[in-house]
Amino acid sequence: MPRMFVPGPVDVADEVLQAQAAPMLPHRSKEFEAIYRRTSEKSQELFYTNYRVFLTASSGTGLQEAAIRNFVDKRVLSIVNGAFADRWYEVAVSNGKDAVKLSFEWDTPASPDRIADAVKGDGFEALMLVHNETSTGLQNPVKEIAEAVRAVSPDTLIFVDAVSSLAGAKIEMDAWGLDMVFTSSQKCLALPPGLALGAVSDRAMKKAESVQNRGWYFDLVRMEKHRNKDSSPATPAMSLIYALNFQLDRIFAEGLENRFVRHSAMAKRVQEWAEAHDQSTYAPEGYRSQTVTTIKNDRRISVSDLNNFLKQREMRIANGYGRLKDNTFRIAHMGETQMEDIEELLEAMEEFLKK
Ligand SMILES: Cc1ncc(COP(=O)(O)O)c(C=O)c1O
Repeated sequence: MPRMFVPGPVDVADEVLQAQAAPMLPHRSKEFEAIYRRTSEKSQELFYTNYRVFLTASSGTGLQEAAIRNFVDKRVLSIVNGAFADRWYEVAVSNGKDAVKLSFEWDTPASPDRIADAVKGDGFEALMLVHNETSTGLQNPVKEIAEAVRAVSPDTLIFVDAVSSLAGAKIEMDAWGLDMVFTSSQKCLALPPGLALGAVSDRAMKKAESVQNRGWYFDLVRMEKHRNKDSSPATPAMSLIYALNFQLDRIFAEGLENRFVRHSAMAKRVQEWAEAHDQSTYAPEGYRSQTVTTIKNDRRISVSDLNNFLKQREMRIANGYGRLKDNTFRIAHMGETQMEDIEELLEAMEEFLKK
């Protein structure tokens, strides 16, 4: 099987692909509703939450927009230290919200103190930030940020984009006091793209009831009424729900904690390999992603030549994203990727570097 060391879509196990092939059912049937409920309830474990989990027929960006449309009346603070955070800011602006950007250098973690200072006294309704910046391979200290914000502004809602980290790194929604956390199917969950999962707190749901112009498709108040009856307002992505239901059992059989350890061991191996080959990791020590490593292209190799070389061995990595293209490249170690896959990749890269 070709192996993709790219940060999504990632390889999907054959048996998970097969799970999608189960026959369709009427989506308003008792049989499907039972599967829908079970899948949504099991998903709570990924978020370490007792709150509801919505399953939407969209990619993660849909839930970026849903967070803004449902829970923000006017003003939101947008923490930006990477390309995906910047895009989420644009989502807020394009939905007509007064989004205020608080920027950090892309190779610097967002600072809890600076964020708390910005929130203090300003009355931001909400704060949005990315847990794992897929462009920079940097993991923001979400727990510490939430703690600092709670201390100065307990009513500010906190939304976290965990698109490239949920199920690959521990994010304890309830213990950390987060109000919305979401992810996409095609990253750490190792499913095909097209499904997003979003967990939402009770107080965020309450707030949504008073927010105007929530739209229709991503109106979570409407969705919640249907969810309470194990259904959804529009037709769900049934094949992907089958696959998620099946994949959750595989994930729990491995154990979430074991999965996190596997990912972080691969991250460490890739970082050490880079250092040993005169290249460095873009994100600073202590804030490096467990699921994707962004390496500075210190040796000025051609990333496209490297990928052409790797493709002959049925492997591929990712170029840098956006303004980091060619100045960095990225190796993902999420989903089903195992240490032996990483070893094979690094061996092939070594061969390329010697050429
Ligand atoms: C951190 C982050 N946020 C948001 C997105 C957008 O997700 P999607 O492509 O599932 O809409 C991505 C995609 O790579 C991402 O990495």
